[in-house]
Amino acid sequence: MSIINIVNGKTKVYGLIGYPISHTLSPIIHNSIGNLMKNNMVYLPFEVSPEGLKKAIQGAYELNIKGLNVTVPHKQKVIPFLSKVEGYAKQIGAVNTLKWSKDGYIGYNTDAEGLLISLKENNISIKDKSILIIGAGGAARATSMMIASQSPKEIVIANRTLEKAEKLAKDVSLFYNIPVKSISLDTIDKNMYFDLCFQTTSVGMTPKEDESPIKNDDFFNQIKIAVDLIYTPSETLFLKKARKAGCKTLNGFGMLFYQAARAYEIWNETVIPKEALEQLFRKIKNELEF
Ligand code: ATR
Repeated sequence: MSIINIVNGKTKVYGLIGYPISHTLSPIIHNSIGNLMKNNMVYLPFEVSPEGLKKAIQGAYELNIKGLNVTVPHKQKVIPFLSKVEGYAKQIGAVNTLKWSKDGYIGYNTDAEGLLISLKENNISIKDKSILIIGAGGAARATSMMIASQSPKEIVIANRTLEKAEKLAKDVSLFYNIPVKSISLDTIDKNMYFDLCFQTTSVGMTPKEDESPIKNDDFFNQIKIAVDLIYTPSETLFLKKARKAGCKTLNGFGMLFYQAARAYEIWNETVIPKEALEQLFRKIKNELEF
């Protein structure tokens, strides 16, 4: 057996903290990347309750856990326990990756970068495009800031609760000088056309696969490309309707995979060879049927 498959005294420990955590695919992705890179490491899921978050971070730090991913519901609440936050995480106000440093954990947000890489891998560009974002929660925040950084023609944020869309549009405008509008989800005009539409809500996620935030099927004639951040099911009702209307479609699995790859690169201060990473992406995508 190869030494890289053996846990020994030099094995580095990484992991994910969230609550609940049992459905996560991150251990499969990270341990596969570690194996690809011949890195003596293991990546484990850690279920951490909101009440236990501070102690978990302190404990992980003292245990010398060099890197952690952070998922729901801790992405914002963890920030006070970090030494600083970097890059997109500052604008988004949420982190998904912690890197050990001598002063404490440093927070990053690789969700935004993961989505951008996934778009690039699918030849989807944002520059000069009109973009519709459905939702105004945490996932919409990461999406909007990333999109805004790529010089789109305009961003329209459509949310069930208009006030939240207004707040997000205002926050995007603080960082980027591009046109950002907010509308209520049920007032998307039939004369509005978009190059790209991002579905960022959890509506349609397993087990509620027969739900969609968009009720009007004609809507799908107003967009060219539909991206759903959900990856379970691999094709949401939203994406199915978009595909049937002739749109190019993309699910959230690429975003999940590439945010993990970027976290790995940050922890190990390395660049994963592009070809090998793409090969691994296709292998995992096929095996997990995404
Ligand atoms: P996340 O961090 O996954 O984005 P969140 O911050 O709780 O989760 O945000 C959930 C988003 O999904 C919100 O935009 C929410 O709309 P409201 O702001 O009106 O609550 C949206 N959402 C949730 N259920 C919805 C539904 N049934 N129809 C439309 N939008 C919905």
